[in-house]
Amino acid sequence: MKSHLQINEKINSFNNKINVSGDKSISIRCVLLASQSIGTSKIYNLLESDDVINALKSIKKLGIKYRKLKNFYLIKGYGLNGYKTDRKIKLNAGNSGTLARLVLGLLVNSNNQITIIGDKSLSKRDFSRVTDPLKQFGAQINSNKNYLPVKIIGTNFLRPINYVEKIGSAQCKSAVILAALKTPGITKIKARKSRNHTELLLKSLGLPIKIRSRNEFDYIEINGQNNFDGFEYYIPGDISSCAFFLVLTLLSKDSKLIIRNVNVNQSRTGIISILNKMNANILLKNKRIYKGEKISDIYVKSKKNLRAVNCSKSYNSSAIDEFLVIFLVAAKAKGVSTFKDLGELNKKESPRLDIGVSILRKIGIKVSRKKDDIKIYGNPKLNLNDKFIIKNFKKDHRVFMMSCVAALTLGGNWKIYDKDSVNSSFPEFIKIIKKIGAKVY
Ligand code: S3P
Repeated sequence: MKSHLQINEKINSFNNKINVSGDKSISIRCVLLASQSIGTSKIYNLLESDDVINALKSIKKLGIKYRKLKNFYLIKGYGLNGYKTDRKIKLNAGNSGTLARLVLGLLVNSNNQITIIGDKSLSKRDFSRVTDPLKQFGAQINSNKNYLPVKIIGTNFLRPINYVEKIGSAQCKSAVILAALKTPGITKIKARKSRNHTELLLKSLGLPIKIRSRNEFDYIEINGQNNFDGFEYYIPGDISSCAFFLVLTLLSKDSKLIIRNVNVNQSRTGIISILNKMNANILLKNKRIYKGEKISDIYVKSKKNLRAVNCSKSYNSSAIDEFLVIFLVAAKAKGVSTFKDLGELNKKESPRLDIGVSILRKIGIKVSRKKDDIKIYGNPKLNLNDKFIIKNFKKDHRVFMMSCVAALTLGGNWKIYDKDSVNSSFPEFIKIIKKIGAKVY
């Protein structure tokens, strides 16, 4: 099978309703927490992407059984000390930073050496950000100069820590919260605000976690070593997958889309705030709360008069995975958009800031850059006729999907390589763009 997708025409006007797949962050957290509960958990709408399948394979290697029945997964846990770690095990996190970092948090009490490996992209991502705090709990951790493979041997003498998380990384915060679950006494965390799905899940499980917010920080306290029962969870749609459809609709002609049942937790909706500042009119309807998470249907329409945005740094965490498609909107907006302090983007599945800037320049958009700050000089008349080849992007799923949205809205002939990359987060992406009318080969 060929590894690229060919797109030679813009998508025609559409008026549709879709669902996007389950949220990746919540799916991985549900799998990991279910594997530590006592009894059977029942999880509906689990995202069936490679990152989540690798989470399921990892818990299986740790002695946890799961199976799929109809539209839900059953996962049977044996409590906080229930992993079988009496032999040396290797866990392959594939492409997933979230899985690799969060599972390390759950291994701080393993009684044998567990090795975490991953694919080429994950093997180029720093792990010291999470191994440094986990060592303080008492676990022994060795790495390949802060990169994978990371080897962890836990301890029976865990001690609670005081941890300050300054980057705004939910992965680091969550790894520490999961380690705290296993640790006697109170672990205290001061964390720059980031997605809070782990905290909300623990609250919904009745675990003793306290959260206070002040300015840009959350102050979290967890009293550890409390077992919890198996649970039921319906996973909502992923706003990070929805993001590609928001921009596809916004930049298409005379189109409308409703995306049903999406998680709109405030720590994730930076894209909606930013696009609405750019004159989009994205509406949230049928809002409800489920286990502390906000869920909503999202209404979006095409928009002609998009304007540039001066994007405040305060959105960097809540739009962290969406900047690539936001850049596309800036490319079509009137005026110069500015984005600041986006260094974290270069630490993702690929160097996304570098790649995003290079794709914009490829399509003729002027971008000026000073370290991690960029200015995008928008061109509302942008209409492409040339040939574009997108490759060598480290199989980053979000670069692939952003390129498809560019091709379907801006014109030109596009050959976009590594189409299997979508399997990390959104295997249904190509099926859904075809459903709403995209012609892709
Ligand atoms: C995630 C957190 C973010 C995000 C990633 C998923 C999570 O990473 O980019 O796709 O599920 O916790 P960081 O926490 O490293 O910023």
